[in-house]
Amino acid sequence: MNIYKPNIIAFKEKEECDKYTSSILIKEINKLKKIKLGLATGSTPREIYENLVSAYKNGAVSFKGVITFNLDEYIGLKENDYENSYRFFMNSYLFEKVDFNINNTFFPIEWNQKLDLDKNDYFEYDELINSNGGIDIQILGVGENGHIAFNEPGSKLSAKTSKTNLSDSTIEVNSRFFKAKADVPTQAVTMGLDTILKAKRILLVAYGKNKLNALKALTSASGFNENIPCTALLLHNNVTIITDQAIELLFK
Ligand code: F6R
Repeated sequence: MNIYKPNIIAFKEKEECDKYTSSILIKEINKLKKIKLGLATGSTPREIYENLVSAYKNGAVSFKGVITFNLDEYIGLKENDYENSYRFFMNSYLFEKVDFNINNTFFPIEWNQKLDLDKNDYFEYDELINSNGGIDIQILGVGENGHIAFNEPGSKLSAKTSKTNLSDSTIEVNSRFFKAKADVPTQAVTMGLDTILKAKRILLVAYGKNKLNALKALTSASGFNENIPCTALLLHNNVTIITDQAIELLFK
């Protein structure tokens, strides 16, 4: 198995990172038009999506031909908690603010989809991605515990899209978005590490000191360590880490 060093693009300010990341997306969307994007939710990509909305309003980009595959979606959100679904996040920060064909925006499950309780795998999502020609650019955030999407510590490299249990640390960290910790779902459907590694190009965006341990673990690992799932990215030959943790990461 080959190990590759990720490129590190580090800026002093988060805003510069957001600008850099959105400019890559705009350039590639304009080049490919029918580009397939893998998208993340959470605090990290919000301003990147806001930049895309501004670019659309200025006539610098159109999303008409773009097809998107989100990384993950919670399962077990309360009926009235649509606002905490990743579908709601994407619709409100990006999809409904620009000219997306909403039918071309996919999630591993829709937030209120009725689940087959015995079903653990959602491999049809991998098939859907493949049948569309694969993901051209995958945007990733990283969890403080090193998770990518909801591939929590202990995840297998061979994992395809499937149902997963969220770790206690993820539930704790994500509780900031909910009224109470008890409202945070304990499960999600997530692209697997194998699904993510099939993307042609990966942009991992990480801001703030609380992501530094995960970034350090990734940049200093010698190979995949299932306790730090983001180290799977060392097996991909086109990964760029975009971060505002310049000094700490580059001059450790
Ligand atoms: C979200 C996702 C997660 C987040 C990660 C970081 O779709 O897959 O892996 O990217 O938890 O979250 P934030 O950006 O909120 O720090």
